[in-house]
Amino acid sequence: ARPSPPNDVIFVLGGPGSGKGTQCGLLTQHFGFAHFSAGDLLRDEVASGSEEGNAIGAMIKEGKIVSAQTTIDLLKKAMASRQGPYLIDGFPRSMDNAKAFEAQLGVASGVLFFDVSQETLEARLIKRGESSGRVDDNRESILKRFATFQTTSLPVLDYLRTITRVWKISGEEPKEDVFARVCQALGREVPAMS
Ligand code: AP5
Repeated sequence: ARPSPPNDVIFVLGGPGSGKGTQCGLLTQHFGFAHFSAGDLLRDEVASGSEEGNAIGAMIKEGKIVSAQTTIDLLKKAMASRQGPYLIDGFPRSMDNAKAFEAQLGVASGVLFFDVSQETLEARLIKRGESSGRVDDNRESILKRFATFQTTSLPVLDYLRTITRVWKISGEEPKEDVFARVCQALGREVPAMS
């Protein structure tokens, strides 16, 4: 039998710069979700200086997707360290990711998908690149990340729609407006925001 997820799991997907991290931060702040970003977990591994970390670092710079099992193992370890419900941000990004999670941890209870135009994504990331220090916040890496998103990650949404709920939310508006829609989708009362 398929193992069931340790608790409620919501996947958070969208193009690079679509606001996944921003919205997860707000959800965590207001509702106490445990938030794990696949990109952050991978960057932490790179920062550790391990041999695997160096290989991961090269993939990230190229905007490519690292192996499913590498990411799954990092996620499992992170989930074991915290109680749910969980927001898993930037995952699954490929069919391999989706199938491996399903086989090893079960079906997520839903997916938040932020829909944002390429023009807006590029503008946001170029602006963030001035201060983020991320090796992939430059125009060349951004274009590669966007191409990977279109060819590899978007098709996963079609698969996820067949096994769970997908909430497609426009991420173009200011973050507070996007957050109000997220709360509505998740059936939560929209908190007052200062
Ligand atoms: P990852 O770290 O997940 O990066 P990403 O998907 O490219 O997304 P970002 O973190 O850049 O953006 P975000 O959507 O979180 O937006 P944010 O809230 O920061 O992945 C990086 C790399 O790791 C990948 O390319 C890949 O190599 C590897 N990787 C990751 N997951 C993997 C996996 N599962 N398998 C294999 N490899 C994997 O917002 C962006 C900016 O916009 C910020 O400055 C923010 O202030 C601003 N902003 C946010 N919302 C709004 C708004 N509504 N209006 C105006 N500005 C806004």
